[in-house]
Amino acid sequence: MIALRSDDKTLQDELKAGGSIPKHIAIIMDGNGRWAKQRALPRVAGHREGVSSVRDIVEASGQLGVKCLTLYAFSTENWKRPQQEVSTLMRLLVKALRDETDKLHKNNVRLTAIGDLDSLPAGVQRELNEAFERTKGNSGLNLNLALSYSGRWEITEAVKKIVADSAGGKMSAEDINESLFSSYLVTASLPDPDLLIRTGGEFRISNFLLFQIAYTEIFISKVYWPDFRRRHLYEAISDFQKRERRFGLVSEQVKHLQTL
Ligand code: FPP
Repeated sequence: MIALRSDDKTLQDELKAGGSIPKHIAIIMDGNGRWAKQRALPRVAGHREGVSSVRDIVEASGQLGVKCLTLYAFSTENWKRPQQEVSTLMRLLVKALRDETDKLHKNNVRLTAIGDLDSLPAGVQRELNEAFERTKGNSGLNLNLALSYSGRWEITEAVKKIVADSAGGKMSAEDINESLFSSYLVTASLPDPDLLIRTGGEFRISNFLLFQIAYTEIFISKVYWPDFRRRHLYEAISDFQKRERRFGLVSEQVKHLQTL
């Protein structure tokens, strides 16, 4: 494990003592372009600096004992961006995987990805598969990258598979319930996110984990992703710890359940 600065350790200890640490955090990493524009830099400079934020948030999440961190790194819609930006993002991804997989592995991080991975360039698929293979036995943080992902794509794919399985006689309409439907999603093996963070200040879900965030707590940070570092993550978790998650019940019922 990476040595922690003593003030950072204090902050982490305070969070651990202050309430539950979210098991699954999902992040919409937004604001790279605006960060670059503010500095009169090309948009890709924002993406490049965004990789440093990824590094810091992954490290801090692992140290805090978060089980799963899902990062929205590239959406289905992002393919429509200028070709040069798309290819720079793909190159950045390959470079980050090459540079960071060793360290991820040493820190017991398991890398997975969700999305239409077959649509990614062959080089990206190759690096990803190597990193999956290398880290698959790790038991610490699950770093889950959403790549060529969108919630509507995922739901549509799930429906296609359910229809095929049903036509093949594996199930009938009566068998379909929320739990069965979840098992057809690309997040089948993951718990629903407890906390969704969006950076860059906008109040949108942008087609991310549409089925899974039904009862997820949402935290919007004004900070652009390239400036978002562990202290901002701590702020989001601390805010999360103050929320009462009622899952559709009333407060008294939740309190009663907590005493059981
Ligand atoms: C959104 O900002 C960000 C992205 C589409 C890409 C995120 C990618 C990275 C942080 C780098 C690579 C990731 C990994 C996992 C190594 P935007 O461009 O939409 O910003 P804007 O809203 O200000 O224009």
